[in-house]
Amino acid sequence: MNVGIIGSGTMGSGIAQVAATAGCQVKLYDTNQVALDKAKAALEKILLRLIEKGRIDTVEKERIQSNISYVGSLKALSDSNLTIEAIIENLEIKKKVFSELESYVANDCIIASNTSSLSIASIAASLEKPERCIGIHFFNPAPLMKLVEVIPAIQTSKEVLETSVQTISEWKKVVAVAKDTPGFIVNRVARPFYGESLRIYEEGIADFATIDWSLKTLGGFRMGPFELMDFIGNDVNYTVTETVFTAFYFDPRYKPAFTQKRFAEAGYLGRKSGKGYYDYAEGATKPNPIEDKALGQHIFDRVLVMLINEAADALFLNIASAEDIDNAMTKGVNYPKGLLTWADEKGIDWCVSKLDELYNEYHEDRYRCSPLLRKMNRENKTFF
Ligand SMILES: NC(=O)c1ccc[n+]([C@@H]2O[C@H](COP(=O)([O-])OP(=O)(O)OC[C@H]3O[C@@H](n4cnc5c(N)ncnc54)[C@H](O)[C@@H]3O)[C@@H](O)[C@H]2O)c1
Repeated sequence: MNVGIIGSGTMGSGIAQVAATAGCQVKLYDTNQVALDKAKAALEKILLRLIEKGRIDTVEKERIQSNISYVGSLKALSDSNLTIEAIIENLEIKKKVFSELESYVANDCIIASNTSSLSIASIAASLEKPERCIGIHFFNPAPLMKLVEVIPAIQTSKEVLETSVQTISEWKKVVAVAKDTPGFIVNRVARPFYGESLRIYEEGIADFATIDWSLKTLGGFRMGPFELMDFIGNDVNYTVTETVFTAFYFDPRYKPAFTQKRFAEAGYLGRKSGKGYYDYAEGATKPNPIEDKALGQHIFDRVLVMLINEAADALFLNIASAEDIDNAMTKGVNYPKGLLTWADEKGIDWCVSKLDELYNEYHEDRYRCSPLLRKMNRENKTFF
C-alpha cells in the first residue's frame, strides 16, 4: 500500500514510522526541509535505540528506512492509496492542502486527517469527494501508543470506514471508532481527570502532591493528574479543555479551571519550562503528599466517578461502543482499567449515589448523573 503523510512533525513522523514498519511504501511530505531532515534523523536515532534494546536487527532497520521517502512536493503523493494529514491545527490551512491534494490523487484514495479538535465534517467539506474523507487520530508518540481513533464524518462512505479500520488494524493498532463530536473519545472522556482534580485543589481539599498520590496509589494511574498536566504542558492541556468546552456550547461539565489558566499565563508550563505544578530545576525536591487514607479515598472516588459519568454519557450518546470506550482509555492514555469495567466493579448504584451526593452538595450541572447510569441502576444492569 502507498501511504502519503502530510506534515513531518511530531505526529507525521511517528505515523510514517508505524506505516513503514507495517510494510507500506511511505512518502513523508513537509513544506519545511528542516522538518523533513529532523524527521529523518529522529527515525535513525529511534531505530538505533530499538537495535540496542534488541527489539529489531539492522536488516529490519534498513527495511523500515527504505520504506520511507522524504518529499518536498505534495504532487509526489499522487500514487497514494491512503493519505494522512498531520499539519498545523488550522482549518483554513488544512482545507487548502486537502483541495490541492485531491487534484493529484486517484479517485479512490482515502484522504484522512489526524486532527485532534477540528470536526471531520468541516474538513471533508473542502473536498470534491467528501465521502473519501475520514479522521484517523493517533496518540503521541504514535509508534508507542496502541490506540487509534477512527472517525467517520457524516459524509464518509461505509467502504472508506471499513478500509480505514482494516488498514489501521493491520498496522497492529487497536482501533476505536468514534462519532465526529468534540474530543472524539479520549479527549472528551479524560477531561475530569484534570478538571475534577483542579477543582478539588481549588476548593482547598488537598494540594497537588496529595491529589497525585491519591490517584496513583489508590487508583493505580501511572501518573497523577498534576504530573500529567506538567508532562503534557499546561498551555497545551488548557487549550484542549477550552476547545472542548467551547465546542460543547459551554457545557459546565467541561469548564476549564482558572488555576490552570494562570499557570499557563505565568509560563509555568510544566517540564518543558522547568516549572509547573512542580519544580523541575536541578536539585529541586518534590513536596510530600499527606498520606491520609480517608482523604485519598475521598479524592480518588470523586475523580473516578466523574470519569465514569463521562464514559457512560459517551455511551449514552452513541459516541462509541462500550468496548471501544474502555479500549480508548486503557490503550490511548494508559488508564489502569476501562472506565465502564470500573463502573461495573464499583457498582452502578455506587456511581449514581456518589454523583447525586456531589450534585446535592453543589447544585452544579457539572455533577449531573448520566441518564444511562440512572436507567441501568433502576434496571439492575451492568455494562459488560
Ligand atoms: N502532538 C500531539 O500530541 C497530537 C496528538 C494527536 C493529534 N495531533 C494533531 O496532529 C496534527 C499535527 O500535530 P503535531 O503535534 O505533529 O504538529 P507539529 O508542529 O509537530 O508538526 C506539524 C508539521 O506540519 C508542517 N506543516 C505546516 N503546514 C504545512 C503545510 N501547509 N503543508 C505541509 N506541511 C506543513 C510543519 O512544517 C511541521 O513540520 C495536528 O492536527 C494536531 O492536532 C497532535
